[in-house]
Amino acid sequence: MGEIICKIDNVTKRFPGVTALSNVSFTIEKGKVHAIVGENGAGKSTLMNILSGVYYADEGAVEFLGEPAVFSQPRIAQMAGIAMIHQELSLAPHMTAAENIFEGRMSKHALGFINFKKVNQDCRELLTRLGITRIDPKTPVKNLSISEMQLLEIAKALSLNAKMLIMDEPTSSLTSTEIEFLHGIINNLRSDGVTTLYISHKLEEVLYIADTITVLRDGWHITTQPKEEMDEKKLINLMVGRQFNQMIQREYMVRYDDKTPLLEVRNLYDTAGRIKNVSFALYPGEILGLTGLVGAGRSELLQAVFGAQKLKSGDIFLNGRKVTINKPGDAVGLGIGLIPEGRKIQGLFLKMPVEDNMVMVYLKRLCYKTGIIKKKKTRELVTGYIEKLSIKTPSINQIVSNLSGGNQQKTIIARWLMNNPKILLMDEPTHGIDVAAKSEIYRIIRDLAQAGVSIILLSSEMIEVLSLCDRIMVMHHGELKGILNHDGADQVKIMSYILDKS
Ligand SMILES: Nc1ncnc2c1ncn2[C@@H]1O[C@H](COP(=O)(O)OP(=O)(O)OP(=O)(O)O)[C@@H](O)[C@H]1O
Ligand SMILES: [Mg+2]
Repeated sequence: MGEIICKIDNVTKRFPGVTALSNVSFTIEKGKVHAIVGENGAGKSTLMNILSGVYYADEGAVEFLGEPAVFSQPRIAQMAGIAMIHQELSLAPHMTAAENIFEGRMSKHALGFINFKKVNQDCRELLTRLGITRIDPKTPVKNLSISEMQLLEIAKALSLNAKMLIMDEPTSSLTSTEIEFLHGIINNLRSDGVTTLYISHKLEEVLYIADTITVLRDGWHITTQPKEEMDEKKLINLMVGRQFNQMIQREYMVRYDDKTPLLEVRNLYDTAGRIKNVSFALYPGEILGLTGLVGAGRSELLQAVFGAQKLKSGDIFLNGRKVTINKPGDAVGLGIGLIPEGRKIQGLFLKMPVEDNMVMVYLKRLCYKTGIIKKKKTRELVTGYIEKLSIKTPSINQIVSNLSGGNQQKTIIARWLMNNPKILLMDEPTHGIDVAAKSEIYRIIRDLAQAGVSIILLSSEMIEVLSLCDRIMVMHHGELKGILNHDGADQVKIMSYILDKS
């Protein structure tokens, strides 16, 4: 074994109602990529938060470079050489890209004013060095796409010249090219002797990039082993603690001719120019995949159908009748639900309890005529969904921001399922979700379709669209490049549409 950079010794961390970490001990070797895997709620982020000065451990100790490491705040951990890229994007939306990167350490003029020119220049240099050329330092972060924000988080952490870099699901919103790019950066860091802690639910990535893998389960340390001794199946079984079969089987629809589409979209254009002349039909009980590169207009298309994106022209039909959808409320009224991407930015009310977050849209139907909420019924419904989706929370009153990332995502899925939608639009519903929870969500999607709900599943994961969908739409630069039938679809065909090489 090589030099140890960090030693975690019997660390325990409790939150009200949950023991997030129980007596966790393992060591991290210098200059290696050390992956941490485990199901949603296993304690991965909590452990990283302890290493990076967000939380104290209740018991146990951490050593960094041979010294006891108890950091009272992230800035102190950064000074000691530990930087963290958080799972939930933590940038300030109204500040520019450059201001976010150099927040708290911006260059100043002699008189003490911030030298914005220098800050922007430093930012541009940093981004160029990393090969991220598409972000303008002066753009307010709120105007960036989620994947650009993620790249910016990464750039920010790298700019701190850390000795140990913690990446908590850095690739959840990145495309495959961007992931390759990030892995290139990590490989360079490894050659420079920088240690990376890498958390991901994408086991393929973990098995590619990591030297060592640690498995946590329910707050317990299960094992730490060299990558060579692991494979995907073994990892999953260690994470889940039981034998586990990932594959999904369903009966695909082959004939549409005898059915009227539930939803039909004709010649849709939005005002921003992100959707161009899109036409498609969605049939009852169909799972219609939607894929393409980030920026191809996929989310915008879902938002347009949901009334959250302004239309320039085009028509939407429901059961053959033309409908007007000007705002999300119109869509909800017509039985359409949208599960948006990026739970922190859109959708969840982080300071509110699980219960309120779940019943938000359905609330009217849980009230007496007087407007008073039917407490018992609400509680039963919420508890039912917590069980159905195996949401890990000590109670329905837990504040949502205290749930692990994956469990936050499941909360938002529950909100829309509760509403019994006829059409469900899902934008990357399994981002940041562990293998077991993922297959639960697949099962839910399949059962919904079986029950007649029509679903548009926006996903960048090839395996998801190929194994779940009846048909797959592929977008490129705002246009629909093609719709493939399940039978005729394979990875190569989809890629050729995605890259517009067909
Ligand atoms: N601030 C907090 N207050 C209360 N409970 C918390 C807090 N932070 C985390 N927890 C709980 O601790 C447990 C571990 O959460 P953690 O976020 O570390 O999981 P994770 O392994 O990162 O999961 P994911 O893959 O979903 O991100 C969960 O049960 C979570 O609900
Ligand atoms: Mg986490």
